[in-house]
Parts: sequence; C-alpha cells; structure tokens
Amino acid sequence: MKVAIFSAKKYDREFLSAANGSRHELRFFESHLNETTASLAAGFGAVCVFVNDHVNAAVIATLASLGVRLVALRCAGYNNVDRKAASKHGITVVRVPGYSPYAVAEHTIGLMLALNRKLHRAYNRVREGNFALDGLLGFDMHGKTVGVIGTGQIGTAVVKILTGLACPTLAFDLIPNETCRSLGVPYVDLNELFAESDIITLHCPLTPDNKYMINDAAIARMKNGVMVINTSRGALLDTLSIIEALKSGKIGYLGLDVYEEEEEIFFEDRSGLILSDDVFARLLTFPNVIITGHQAFFTREALLNIASMTIDNITRFENNQPLEKLIG
Ligand code: NAI
Repeated sequence: MKVAIFSAKKYDREFLSAANGSRHELRFFESHLNETTASLAAGFGAVCVFVNDHVNAAVIATLASLGVRLVALRCAGYNNVDRKAASKHGITVVRVPGYSPYAVAEHTIGLMLALNRKLHRAYNRVREGNFALDGLLGFDMHGKTVGVIGTGQIGTAVVKILTGLACPTLAFDLIPNETCRSLGVPYVDLNELFAESDIITLHCPLTPDNKYMINDAAIARMKNGVMVINTSRGALLDTLSIIEALKSGKIGYLGLDVYEEEEEIFFEDRSGLILSDDVFARLLTFPNVIITGHQAFFTREALLNIASMTIDNITRFENNQPLEKLIG
C-alpha cells in the first residue's frame, strides 16, 4: 500500500522504514497534515499521522476525494481526528494504543521527583559552583497522596510505580479499572480527588467533554501548594488559570509534557528564534515549573512498538484482516 507519512522526523523514518522492510511504499513528508497539505496525499491509499496533525472534517473530505481509505495514527491519543467526518466518508481510522505505557508513566514520575527535589535547579547550581542547599528543600514522596485522573494503560502503570514509592493513590475514571481496584486504589469523584491529593496527575484522553477540566473551579478545590502533572493533552488544563494559581502559590509545582498550543512550538529546534507565545513564555519564568516538549513517549522501546504496530495496522487493513479500529 502507498502510505503518506506526515510530520515525519528522522527517527520516524528510521523506525518505520526498519519495521516496514519492503511491505509498503512509504513516503515521508516533514509537514503537518492540514487543509493546506492534504493534497500531498494524492495517489496514496493511507496517511500516517502524529499528535499535531489536523485530521478535521475539511482534511478528511479532501483525503476521501483523493482516494485515501485509511488514517493510521502513530500515537495513542486521537483528539485531533474528527471521527464523525471519517465515518461519513468511509475512512478507517486506527491508532497504536498501549505501545509503551511505561515510557509515559516513567516520565510522569520523573517530573514528580524532579519538581519535588528541584533537580533542574540543583543541576544548574552545581555547574555554576554553587553548592548551597537553600531553596532546594523537598518532601518525602513516601505517604503523599497522588490523585490519578484516567486509569487506562498509562494511569495504571503510574499507579503501580507509586505503589513502590508507598504513595497512597486515589483514582477518577469514567470506567474504573479492575487492576487498579485489585491494587486497593479507591475510585472517588473528582471533587474528593482534588481535595485530598498532594499530587494530581492526568492520564485521560482529551475529549469535547473534558477540555479545561483543570480550571479555576477545580483548582479552588485543591490543596494549597498542590503539584499538578500533565503528560496527557495540553487542553485538559486552562493554562491561564494555571498561571494565576502559580502566581498565588495555590499550585506549588507544575510538570508539563504537553501544552494546549504546542503545535506551534514543540518538536522543532527554536533556540535561535523569538518565542511569540506569551502564555508559554510566562510559564517558563516560574522556578517551580518543568516543561518537556511532548517527549514522554520517546523511548527506544516505544518507537519500536509504534513502528511495528503502525505497519501491522496498515498490513491488516490492506489484507482485510481483523484490526482494532477507532472508525471503519
Ligand atoms: P487509555 O485509553 O488506555 O486510558 C484512558 C483512560 O481515561 C480510560 O480508562 C478512560 O476510561 C479514561 N477516561 C476517558 N475520559 C475520561 C474523563 N473525562 N475523565 C477521566 N477518565 C477518562 O489511554 P492511555 O494509553 O493510558 O493514554 C492516556 C492519554 O495519554 C492519551 O489519551 C494521550 O492523550 C496521552 N498520551 C501522551 C503521551 C505523551 O508522550 N505525552 C503518549 C501517549 C499518550
């Protein structure tokens, strides 16, 4: 099958080409898929996209008119796909769920530990010859309550690591998970989770119903000095509310791997450019904020799994074999 791969980076070429062998004809495009670039898919039966590609109704209509029959997401989240439009145009959509929940879960815990013990500041201090400890005071993770929102594959992996740190966890999910229940994790409503948690971490997908679930009202219910971690999708947080809460000290620590306007910023070297997003620039000024550029998934094991699952999805689609579809 001819596959147009959008938002392609060097590592996408390397891992997808290796997994593919000579099965499909892969063509790599550096540009995002959007209304302007959708025409590049002419002559391809499938497109392969990532987190910041726009698979909206207009793009899907164009893809359908060009004869594209499959959208293969090489990520787990699918908030960037208009599933109704895909269904209307008879386009099948597949994704790669659970390619490595450990990658994201371990990064999440890394953000918690680094924020708590201020490793980002300590690293810089020591390099400058400053060995003073003032300002680096942390807390024992042991015994701190962590609220996990979304206990699918990644949330469950986070819960398991936290068990090893002796952190009691509280969970919220629309569909409670038996593994978490068997680990003794209580499911509570969001208000209780906000009120009782020292650390809150988000692992649910972004849907039309939960945009800005962490807003002024939610923050008001949280403990003073709470740590908030978001490795899921940026628009789960209302960034302006978060900034106000950081300024007042209500939020004591913030760890982000995602940002609601990340498409214009992440995945490129912009070190020589002027940052035009003032909200993001403000976030960078806080000493108690650590931001990584959507790298939580980025482990060798995850890339191997993403590539092999993506190629397998395309092969199964081409051969009319059973496959787990989001649409189609
Ligand atoms: P999953 O599908 O296994 O689990 C998602 C869980 O969230 C499910 O249990 C579901 O019932 C629950 N959920 C759905 N809507 C909810 C809501 N409104 N409130 C609370 N819970 C809700 O997904 P997985 O693999 O655990 O991934 C979770 C999210 O992590 C993805 O949707 C994606 O946004 C993000 N992600 C981020 C990555 C990164 O590199 N930063 C990489 C991979 C995923």
